[in-house]
Amino acid sequence: MNKEKINRQQLIALEIEKIGATIMRNPLFVQGFSQKHHGFTTVGDHTLNVTIAGSKLAGKMSKVGFKVDRRDVIIGALLHDIGIIGRDKKYKNNYETGQRHGIDSAKEAAEIVPDLTPKQKDIIENHMFPVTPRPPRSVEGVVVTLADKWSSIMELICHYLIRKEYNADLRRAIRKRIYLKDE
Ligand SMILES: [Fe+2]
Ligand SMILES: [Fe+2]
Repeated sequence: MNKEKINRQQLIALEIEKIGATIMRNPLFVQGFSQKHHGFTTVGDHTLNVTIAGSKLAGKMSKVGFKVDRRDVIIGALLHDIGIIGRDKKYKNNYETGQRHGIDSAKEAAEIVPDLTPKQKDIIENHMFPVTPRPPRSVEGVVVTLADKWSSIMELICHYLIRKEYNADLRRAIRKRIYLKDE
């Protein structure tokens, strides 16, 4: 990896830590690292992937003239699937999970972030579009919903086609900063 890429990755990890450390240390969020997601990853790892992808996409969109609030993207991405934790006890089947976890994530998010804004709530609630009918109402919501799809596809093809974990190094760097710092 060249120096420029390492610096860029460090900046992403630092920004996610700065904005999201409290969320990532929440016990429900931590529980996400023990729940399987899409068969081979975990809710926690997928969530970090979406947050990294969201941060990168926000940067790209800003470069072409979009006004993107990076804080909204990171908070939305970190909390987009928090409601899916404990899915086996909450939902009857995959369809119900797909339809309801966005709304449940927004409810959990409001508990974890007491000053969650209506825009952040909308980003989380509608991240499953077009699986759920209501599209997100902000550029940041579009960023998170695209980052979610992109990450899900990359997780899948990295796992099956190149037998590698998507974004493993950057995720490890973030986890190290968040979970080992206070020990
Ligand atoms: Fe989701
Ligand atoms: Fe997701």
